[in-house]
Amino acid sequence: MAANNTVMSGIRPTGFLHLGNYFGAMRNYVKMQEEYECFFMVADLHSLTTHPDTRELKQNVHRVLAENIACGLNPDKAALYCQSHLYETSELYLYLNMLAYKGELEKTTTFKDKVRQHPQNVNAGLLTYPVLMATDILIHRASYVPVGKDQEQHLEMTRNFAQRFNHRYGEVFPEPMAFNFGQTLLKVPSLDGTGKMSKSENQMATLYLSDDDDSIRKKVMKAKTGEAPIEKNADMPEAIGNIFLLMELVSEADVIASYKHDFNECRIRFGDMKKQLAEDMVKFIAPIRQKTNDILANENYLKTVMEQGAEKARKSAKATMDQVRMVMGLNYF
Ligand code: TRP
Repeated sequence: MAANNTVMSGIRPTGFLHLGNYFGAMRNYVKMQEEYECFFMVADLHSLTTHPDTRELKQNVHRVLAENIACGLNPDKAALYCQSHLYETSELYLYLNMLAYKGELEKTTTFKDKVRQHPQNVNAGLLTYPVLMATDILIHRASYVPVGKDQEQHLEMTRNFAQRFNHRYGEVFPEPMAFNFGQTLLKVPSLDGTGKMSKSENQMATLYLSDDDDSIRKKVMKAKTGEAPIEKNADMPEAIGNIFLLMELVSEADVIASYKHDFNECRIRFGDMKKQLAEDMVKFIAPIRQKTNDILANENYLKTVMEQGAEKARKSAKATMDQVRMVMGLNYF
């Protein structure tokens, strides 16, 4: 089936987005909403597979919505909704579960990881996590799914479920593919020089969109820089290269060029450079944090956003489910 113009992605409601999420995912979403029919969903049901305690869920869902809107997602353009508000999800999940094999589900990398992390709670929902994710995508018959590398296996399984369904019952679903707007994703290194910025790692090495100005300054000033260069035009050690990468995200081009020049001339002062980066980070993050807090303070607004998103999602899901039931032969009247 030919690709359409529909984009779908899910966001885990774990609260607190960081700079890596912003440049990795959010900015992509914000661009996509201009040109595609977008469904962005908060995956609250998925979180039940590992976090059955729901006490903090409401707060987390609100935060993730507020941060996404503060980053530029527009609820009038994209459908921004909560997974649990779209009841059709449960129905399609059930049908797709009949087409998913125990063997392939057990082989999924994320399942094996989670079994290791939560050996006392290996529930059937955890096993069928990829089926629920496939449901999220297929229920809108989406062609494009902006996700990171860690979700690619789930996406491949989604294509398999779609194919099986189409072959068994009739063509309903396009096969969705991973999609990133523009060419490459920006690399956002962590501040301690070990890999990418991510929330599970060292909190001091991660800049959150909710960090206050002083925390931002403190974290940046502690960032690893390595040895100062001793000869001109030396190769750049990774640690200082990472500081430059972070500057590329938030600092002016001529400022970056002048520090590069100083590095090449062995005149660079890492302390000054980090001060500059800290101030540019503050300038970048502070407005997003403030906007997030304004939105969080307005529960009525959040409620309207969720209702509006759910309505759009329902309309799209209803159209799919009418076809699904028809081709499956579940129409007895
Ligand atoms: N599993 C995804 C993650 O952990 C979240 C998610 C749920 C998702 N449903 C989705 C992503 C549908 C893309 C499409 O990040």
